[in-house]
Amino acid sequence: MYRKTIVTATLILGAATTSLAWAGDPRAGEQKMQACIACHGETGVGDDEQYPILAGQHEDYLYHTLKAYQTGERDDPIMAGQVANLSDQDMRDLAAYYAAQDVEDGVFTTRINRGVSID
Ligand code: HEC
Repeated sequence: MYRKTIVTATLILGAATTSLAWAGDPRAGEQKMQACIACHGETGVGDDEQYPILAGQHEDYLYHTLKAYQTGERDDPIMAGQVANLSDQDMRDLAAYYAAQDVEDGVFTTRINRGVSID
């Protein structure tokens, strides 16, 4: 507990004083994902199947995808608007949050089968 507090304090201090990249914090991501719920749901599985499932995706993948929407490398008008004002740390935290979510049994399989074959 004591050690964790020190690490957290160090991270906050570090993030505030340097531009070094820090790992995402899922708890911070939880505070930032309100804007994403309408489409991706609270846990990264939205009610509407047209929106991709984020739950359980690789953190790295989610982070780099968000970056790509922001730079325009991945072109999507909806997501470009969503990430326009996110900081690098916001994207890391959101990626960590969704990566930490479980996928409900069956849901992932069902939706994946409707998409591109991964065999
Ligand atoms: C208005 C609906 C909407 C909202 C709100 C929204 N998204 Fe999306 N999101 C989409 C759509 C549509 C796509 C698929 C776009 C494409 O084809 O590239 C997508 C794709 C993504 C992907 C890529 C998934 C993959 O499998 O490649 C990520 C990551 C993502 N969104 C994260 C977020 C985050 C984080 C937020 C909140 C800051 C958010 N989205 C808010 C609609 C939305």
